[in-house]
Amino acid sequence: MTPEGETIQPLGQPLAHPRILLVVGGGIAAYKSCELVRLAKRGGAEVTCVLTDGGAQFVTPMALAALSGNQVHTSLWDLKNEAEIGHIQLSREADLVVICPATADLMARMAAGIADDLATTLILATNRPVMAVPAMNVKMWQHDATVHNVEVLRSRGITVIEPDMGDMACGEFGPGRLPEPEAVWVEIAGALGLDAGAASADIAAYLARRYNAPDYGEDEDYEEDPAPSGGASMGGMLGSLIQRATPHWAQSAEAAEEDEYEGMDLPDGLVEGPDLPEPDYSGFGGLMAKKGSATAAPPTDREAINHQVNARQAAPQPFEGEEAAAPVAPMASPMAFAHSDPVDSRAELSLVPALDAFDPLAGQPGFDQDVEHRPLYGRHVLVTAGPTHEPIDPVRYLANRSSGKQGYAIAAAAAAAGARVTLVSGPVHLRTPLGVDRIDVGSAQEMADAVREAMPADVAIMVAAVADWRPRDYIGEKIKKRGSAPPALILTENPDILASVAASANRPELLIGFAAETGNVVENARKKRKSKGVDWIVANDVSGDVMGGEDNEVHLVREGMVEKWDEMTKQDVAMKLVLQVADRLKVNA
Ligand SMILES: Cc1cc2nc3c(=O)[nH]c(=O)nc-3n(C[C@H](O)[C@H](O)[C@H](O)COP(=O)(O)O)c2cc1C
Repeated sequence: MTPEGETIQPLGQPLAHPRILLVVGGGIAAYKSCELVRLAKRGGAEVTCVLTDGGAQFVTPMALAALSGNQVHTSLWDLKNEAEIGHIQLSREADLVVICPATADLMARMAAGIADDLATTLILATNRPVMAVPAMNVKMWQHDATVHNVEVLRSRGITVIEPDMGDMACGEFGPGRLPEPEAVWVEIAGALGLDAGAASADIAAYLARRYNAPDYGEDEDYEEDPAPSGGASMGGMLGSLIQRATPHWAQSAEAAEEDEYEGMDLPDGLVEGPDLPEPDYSGFGGLMAKKGSATAAPPTDREAINHQVNARQAAPQPFEGEEAAAPVAPMASPMAFAHSDPVDSRAELSLVPALDAFDPLAGQPGFDQDVEHRPLYGRHVLVTAGPTHEPIDPVRYLANRSSGKQGYAIAAAAAAAGARVTLVSGPVHLRTPLGVDRIDVGSAQEMADAVREAMPADVAIMVAAVADWRPRDYIGEKIKKRGSAPPALILTENPDILASVAASANRPELLIGFAAETGNVVENARKKRKSKGVDWIVANDVSGDVMGGEDNEVHLVREGMVEKWDEMTKQDVAMKLVLQVADRLKVNA
C-alpha cells in the first residue's frame, strides 16, 4: 500500500502502549474508524481521537470517546487546552498520527499547508510520523488535484495508504474505498512495531495466512511476501517489519479475547489450506478487485474436485474416463462447418452421447479458407467458462450449475474466426475446442490468477460463473458428523475477476461480461455494465434450464442500446457475438 521508500520506519523497540492520535475526517467511511479504535485498543495502543467538523457529520464524539476511553477533541478554540497550547501538545504526545479516513479535502489542506481547524493545525505542527488512509469517490481519488496532493504528501514523508478497489457507497466502482479496519490496523501496528495479530484472532489468522507463519503453514519454501497488488501493498511494508518466525500469531489467535465468531461451533481440524503461491496481481495494474475483504487464496483440493488443476498448463489433461481432448490443430478447414444447416445442429446434438455431443462449431457459418482473411486473425481473445469450485474439505466444495457450454462455444467461434484463443476453464466435462489453448483451474482465486497470466488480450469475454463466495476456512480432514448439529460454514468473498480486468492497466480493447439473472435481466445487466466498467454485457435469464442446456436467450447490453436476441443454440449465440466483436474491432482499428 505504501510506495517503496516512503514507509514509516518502525520505531526501534516496540512500545508497551504506543499512543495514536487518530484524526477522523468527513467521509462516509468514518464509521470504520470506530472499529479501528477498537482494534488498536485491543492491540495495546492508546488512542486519542480528533474529529473534524466533517467527521462529526458521520460519527459522534461520544462514540469515539466511549471506544477510545479518552476525550475526543473537536475544536481548536478550546480555551482550557489552548491555555497550555493544547494543539501543539496533542500533536507531539502521539507516537503516530493517523488520519482515517483522510478525505480529499483534508489531504488538499495538508498539501497546501493550511491550518484552519484543529486537525490540520496539529498535522502541520507535529513532529511525529503521519499516516493518511484516504477514502473517497473514485473520480475524486483519480482527480489530478488529488493525485498531485498525494504526491506532495508522500514527498514530505507522509505515508499515504493506497485505497482499496471496490463498490462505492455512491454506486460507482473503482479505487477509493477505505481498506477494512483490520488492514489499516496491520499498517499501523507495523509502523509502531506492534504485534498486529494480538488484536484479534481474525487478524492473527490473516497474518498467518499471508506470511505462512510456521504454526499454521507447511510451506518450507517460504519467500518474502511478493508485495501483492502491484508491489505497493501492506505486504510490502510488513514483510520487512514482521519476522517470519514470529511464533505468537498462532498463540495470539487463541489468546485473543474477542472474536467475531467466538463461540461458533467450528469443526475440529481447522487448518490453513495448501501452500498455493500468493497470487501476483501486478498485471492488474496494482489492484485486485475484491467483492469484500477477502485476502488470501483459498486452498484447492484436487481430489475434492476430481479434476486436474494446473493453472500453468496450457494443454489440458482428459478427465478420468474421458477421451483425450481433440488435438489442437490449426483451423485448416473451417469450411467443413460452413455448409451444415444451423437449424439442424440442435437435432444433431440431441442424438449423440453427452460427451461427444458438444461440437462447439457445429452448424456455424465458416470463414474464409485463408486464415489471414478471417475477421479476428492476429487478435488474442481471452474467454473464461464454467463454474468454479470452492473447497470446504478434501471431499466437498461449493459450486454452481454452470456447464461451460456457452463459454466453450464462444472460444470455438473465436478460434474459427482466426483469433488466438485462451480459454480459462473451471471444472467442466467438455472437450477443448479446436484451436483453443485451454487452462484448467478450480477455484475463483485460481481463475483470477490464470486470467491475469493470460493477459494481455484484445478481447476478453468473461462467461465463467465465478463463485461469489468461498468457505473462509479450509478443513484439512473430512468434516465428520457430530451429533445432530451441522458444522458452521463461514463464507468470505472471492475476488471480482471481471472488475479486476476492467481496472487493469492492460485492459482489453473490448471487455464483455456475462450476467446470469433470474429477474430484471436487462436492468441488472445495465447496472452491472456500469458498475464493473465493462463494454458489453450479455445477459441471460437463468431461471429456466439455461444452465446446462443447449439453448440461450440473451440480451446484449452495450452503451446506449440493448439488443434482444431470439432464443437460439449456444453455438449460434457464440457465432453472433464473435461476429459483432469482429465488427467492433474493425471499427476501432
Ligand atoms: C454523504 C457525504 C459523503 C462524503 N464522503 C466523502 C468521502 O468519502 N471522501 C471525501 O473525501 N469526501 C467526502 N465527502 C465530502 C466531505 O465531507 C467534504 O469535503 C468535507 O469538507 C470534508 O471534511 P474534512 O476535511 O473535515 O474531512 C462526503 C460528503 C457527504 C455529504
